[in-house]
Amino acid sequence: MSLFGRSLLTLLDYSPEEIRYLLKLSHKVKAEAKKGRVFNRFNGKTLALLFEKRSTRTRCAFETAFGEEGGHPVFLSTQDIQLGSKESIEDTARVLGRMFSAIQFRGFKQETAETLAKYSNVPVYNGLTDLYHPTQALADLMTLEECFGTEKGKNLVFVGDGRNNVARSLMVICSKLGTNFTVITPAELNPDNELRERTAPIAEKSGAVITVTSDINAVKGADALYTDVWISMGEEDKRDERVKLLSPYQVNQNLMEKTGKRDTIFLHCLPAVKGEEVTADVIDGNNSRAWDQAENRKHTIKALMLATLIK
Ligand code: CP
Ligand code: NVA
Repeated sequence: MSLFGRSLLTLLDYSPEEIRYLLKLSHKVKAEAKKGRVFNRFNGKTLALLFEKRSTRTRCAFETAFGEEGGHPVFLSTQDIQLGSKESIEDTARVLGRMFSAIQFRGFKQETAETLAKYSNVPVYNGLTDLYHPTQALADLMTLEECFGTEKGKNLVFVGDGRNNVARSLMVICSKLGTNFTVITPAELNPDNELRERTAPIAEKSGAVITVTSDINAVKGADALYTDVWISMGEEDKRDERVKLLSPYQVNQNLMEKTGKRDTIFLHCLPAVKGEEVTADVIDGNNSRAWDQAENRKHTIKALMLATLIK
C-alpha cells in the first residue's frame, strides 16, 4: 500500500484499509521507540508547523517525531507569518510548498487546511480545525487496539459536546473501522445532519452502529467512555451556556459504574478541565488510558509522516 504524497484532512477520504495500514505502522513505530531505535528517516526533509490555535500534544508530537528522525520542523504561529492577513492562503501555500516537504495546519477553518493542500502540492496534515481532528482519532483507535486487541465491534461512547471536532472525527473513524460509536449529548449539541448522512452508508458497510442520543443511560455496555472539554478553542464566549447544558453529562465514577462493565476504560484527548467534563478520580484513576492516548499521538503522527513522505 502506498500513501505517498497524500494529505490528511478529514479521514473521510481514507479507506478502511488505508487507516488500518496507518494504525499497523503506528504500532511498529511505537515498538521501535520502546527499543530506543531511532532512524534518520526524515533526513533532508522539512515540515512547516502552522498554528492559529494553541497546542501542547499536537505540536510536540509533530516536532519531536519529525526532528528525532533527522527532519527539520519549523514552528510558525500567526504572529510569525502571513496566513490570510496581507497575503492570501493560496499564495502562502504556494510559497510554503516550494520550501517544505509537508505542512501541518492547526486553526479555525477547515477550508484553510483544504486550501493549503490544494495549492501547496505537498502533503498537508490537519492538526485540528473547528470541524475535524483526524490525527487525534488515529491515536484514539490505536489506544483502543492496545487495550482490546481490536476496535471492531467494541463500544466507544463519547459523552459531552457532540458537535465538536473530536466527536466528529471519532464518528468518521468508527464508521470506517466497524467500531460502534454512541454520542451522548444534549439535543442542542447534536453532530450535524450532513456528517451523519455522510457517515451512515460507511457505517453500514463496516457494521458499525452509530447512535446519537441525549440519554445518559446509553453508557451501558461501553468498552470505552470518552469525553472532551465543554468549551473548545475559539468558543470561549459560550462558556455559561455550555456549562448549563453539559453539567448533567460529566464523566464521574458514578457514570463509569453505569456502564455495567468493570473494565471500561476512560479516554480524553486532553487538555482536560478536571471538575468539569471529568472528575479527577476518573482521569487520574486506574481505568484511565488518557496518558497512553497522549503518547500515541506521537507514534501515529510519525507513522502518518512516514507513510506520506517516504516512497
Ligand atoms: N489533544 C490535542 O490535540 O492536544 P493539544 O491541543 O495539546 O495539541
Ligand atoms: N475540542 C477541543 C479539542 C482540543 C484538542 C478543542 O477544539 O479545543
